[in-house]
Amino acid sequence: MPANEDQIKFWNEKAGQDWVLLQERMDANLADIGDAVLALARPAPGEAVLDVGCGTGATSLALAKAGAKVTGLDVSKPMLGLARSRAIQAGLDIAFIEADASAYAFQPEYDLIFSRFGVMFFDDPILAFANLHRALKPGGRLAFVCWRTPPENLWAFTPLTAAKPFLPEQPPPDPNAPGPFAFADPQRVLSILTDVGFHNVETSKFDGVMRMGGDIATIAAQTLQIGPLSRAVGEADEATRAKIVEAVRGAMVKFAAPDGEIAPPAACWLVSARKERKA
Ligand SMILES: C[S@@+](CC[C@H](N)C(=O)[O-])C[C@H]1O[C@@H](n2cnc3c(N)ncnc32)[C@H](O)[C@@H]1O
Repeated sequence: MPANEDQIKFWNEKAGQDWVLLQERMDANLADIGDAVLALARPAPGEAVLDVGCGTGATSLALAKAGAKVTGLDVSKPMLGLARSRAIQAGLDIAFIEADASAYAFQPEYDLIFSRFGVMFFDDPILAFANLHRALKPGGRLAFVCWRTPPENLWAFTPLTAAKPFLPEQPPPDPNAPGPFAFADPQRVLSILTDVGFHNVETSKFDGVMRMGGDIATIAAQTLQIGPLSRAVGEADEATRAKIVEAVRGAMVKFAAPDGEIAPPAACWLVSARKERKA
């Protein structure tokens, strides 16, 4: 099977289309985390930046607004389509490439490789990060954010737990399989990055929240449309889905913040590294 075939299909079909439909919601959910990884990356005016797995473009736009010369790269045609039109609408000159980050023939032209949750989906992370390492200029840097473990990420774990009684028994997931939680183990991240030649690898915890809005019925329904529960629910029938929505609704309401917004914990790793200055 060609590399990353399952993920490329996934992000071009339902997941990509749902991210396009829910772009504003997803950007609001992830805004605080996006700000944290931008602060880590410190893009400078004129720097060449590659936004890996740029999706619908929120962080590519933010990097360009900071004055960087941005290239957004993604495998998802529908998500890139929206990213392109958002950049045009904002009057920002951003290049977008539809390609697999693990296979694209990069030149060593970037000062910064950046990603908000776009680097955990590779079949072979060593191959992918070796390729991204090649894309950096000597002395260039890497900055990305990825999720910690599911039990720390109650935005995902609570809906999954609430849905469990209504779904067939599943074998325990492979924690290293491509997917949102593939980089939950910081030792794994450290070993992948050092194996491919990165230096000064640092991981630090960022404990944020997922800002999901205030409408609990919509939030419950959306957990079956996008994110880890949507994958687990698969082809469940309408009656089962309705029961799961009710259970998720009951379980998520406890995360209401004083302003009424549902804001469950979102636990991340902020990861940074450097390519050596001399070849
Ligand atoms: C969770 S989404 C994050 C999107 C965006 N960075 C954001 O924060 O809104 C993951 C993104 O990674 C992209 N992706 C997955 N595998 C990829 C690969 N091998 N090369 C490039 N992009 C990939 C997906 O298409 C998707 O847009």
